[in-house]
Amino acid sequence: MIDLRSDTVSKPTIEMRNIIKNAEVGDDVIGDDFTVKNLENEAAKITGKESALYVPSGTMGNLIALLVHCLIKKVAIVGSESHILWHEGLGATQFGGIHLLPVDNASDGTFLHEQLLNIINDSVGKPGVICLENTHNRCGGSVIDEDYINQVSDFAKSINAAVHMDGARIFNAATALDCNVIDLVKNVDSVSFCFSKGLGAPIGSVLCGSTNFIQQSRSVRRTLGGGMRQAGIIASAASYALKNNIKRLKDDHGNAKLLAGGLSKIKGIYINEKVVQTNIVYFSVKEINGDKFVDELNKQGLLVSQPKGTQEIRAVTHLNISSQDIKESLEIISSVTQKLLKV
Ligand SMILES: Cc1ncc(COP(=O)(O)O)c(C=O)c1O
Repeated sequence: MIDLRSDTVSKPTIEMRNIIKNAEVGDDVIGDDFTVKNLENEAAKITGKESALYVPSGTMGNLIALLVHCLIKKVAIVGSESHILWHEGLGATQFGGIHLLPVDNASDGTFLHEQLLNIINDSVGKPGVICLENTHNRCGGSVIDEDYINQVSDFAKSINAAVHMDGARIFNAATALDCNVIDLVKNVDSVSFCFSKGLGAPIGSVLCGSTNFIQQSRSVRRTLGGGMRQAGIIASAASYALKNNIKRLKDDHGNAKLLAGGLSKIKGIYINEKVVQTNIVYFSVKEINGDKFVDELNKQGLLVSQPKGTQEIRAVTHLNISSQDIKESLEIISSVTQKLLKV
């Protein structure tokens, strides 16, 4: 099976499993796990923040950030296409009474700036935080650059709001921009990123920010049941991923471009090849039933993701996918498309 459903499906390599086997562990909730502490220090260093907190998932990292930033001002500005708004169970609203105020995302993951200004003038409550997403999942893995991030940060300062970056795939963004993560996040107050996506670790994310912010976040993590005991078992894999799997992200981006280029040549497949900047590829099959298309790919040994009932397909490259897999995927997609176009 070639699995392009998400970069979350990648499996730990033998080397990573050996690291896990030998991990030094302790009870992290009482501060005894050296491997977790080490990982948190590495994450703080690589993002240029004072401190970091290991959390079970990207969703929990974002939730904690919103709960801390919006302790008093109960409004969070989020993109209309953001993961926080669509895929995280509205946790900030459910558990923190925080109103998620959406501002339209442009197709590149930025905000429609005029709408951002207007919404803030019109909103009754003042926002505690503005949330950015980089890379932007629902906007095709698009990347937002330092200049744009700084522009939003300056604006946030002017209205006394914090900026949180959902950087689940921040290393993909830095790779695509050929820049340092520190530069990308230096003017945001907090950033979360995931070890279990392109970096290829099995579990976990991290939230980074000031010492004071992380102290508060640690206490919120406990409340949410996110304190993990001998978490060094999984943190060791995350540390390994930070050391070994960042440089290779460019291979995933190359494979995504290879896929997009090949798709653009298949009759019946619709794709804007130029939009593909990182490891996420969206395309559509306008004349074919999307559910049938995905079922048929599945039967031929290729998994992709698709919101049921739609003709929108998403394919994501990751560390278990080679350029040969992409070539085979294109052959499968081409033969399935031609077959279904005839029906
Ligand atoms: C942009 C973005 N943010 C946050 C998350 C949530 O991460 P997790 O699945 O670890 O909760 C995801 C997951 O796909 C994501 O794509």
